[in-house]
Amino acid sequence: MTAPTLTTARLRLRPPTMADAAPMAERRSDPETAQFQAWPQPYTVEKAERMVAGLIEQGGPARGCWYQWVLERVSDGEVVGDIAFRLDADGHNGEVGYVLWPWARGHGYATEGTAAAIEYGFTEWGLHRIEAELDPRNTGSIRVLERLGFRHEGNQIEAYWVGDTVTDSGHYGLLRREWEAHRAGHQD
Ligand SMILES: CC(C)(COP(=O)(O)OP(=O)(O)OC[C@H]1O[C@@H](n2cnc3c(N)ncnc32)[C@H](O)[C@@H]1OP(=O)(O)O)[C@@H](O)C(=O)NCCC(=O)NCCS
Repeated sequence: MTAPTLTTARLRLRPPTMADAAPMAERRSDPETAQFQAWPQPYTVEKAERMVAGLIEQGGPARGCWYQWVLERVSDGEVVGDIAFRLDADGHNGEVGYVLWPWARGHGYATEGTAAAIEYGFTEWGLHRIEAELDPRNTGSIRVLERLGFRHEGNQIEAYWVGDTVTDSGHYGLLRREWEAHRAGHQD
């Protein structure tokens, strides 16, 4: 399949190229960015290159796989971060994630970019439900999910490892009908 590009008022979610690998590694190696993430430190350029090569070969979102869009600002083409999107093997449920450069935070880019991925998942793939999982100390990420209408469904106790430290795993969910109601409530 052809990898889709999604556009919002201020942002473009575009397929990654090999040139995006080194900045992706740099974003994930920033200690503050990585503090609530399970990915290994440092996140090497080689690891990012393997991931991007796999995404290019995959060609776009696919059942049973994660995909990553590069999140670009339309006004100047600047990359502000990336948006992750997973489809389950049956095509019923999806999952989202997001990372911004520290300088790009506080503008609503993660919320706006993730909204586009959610809309795509519910309309293009006919998903029933989209989930997110996080470290409950990640309050910035919780606020993103709350703004998008996700429900906190509970925490798994001591299930989420960040390096050698275990913490609870927060689970969030959003059904398609809830998204439609949320979206309708946010239209002018
Ligand atoms: C999680 C993360 C993406 C959140 O970034 P963020 O900038 O707070 O989120 P958004 O881009 O949606 O911006 C929302 C903030 O911008 C503000 N904002 C400013 N202009 C805005 C606009 N036009 N629209 C919406 N929000 C706007 C909001 O008030 C909000 O600030 P607040 O949370 O203090 O109220 C960021 O902290 C990050 O990259 N962390 C590291 C990686 C990570 O932990 N990812 C989560 C994986 S579970």
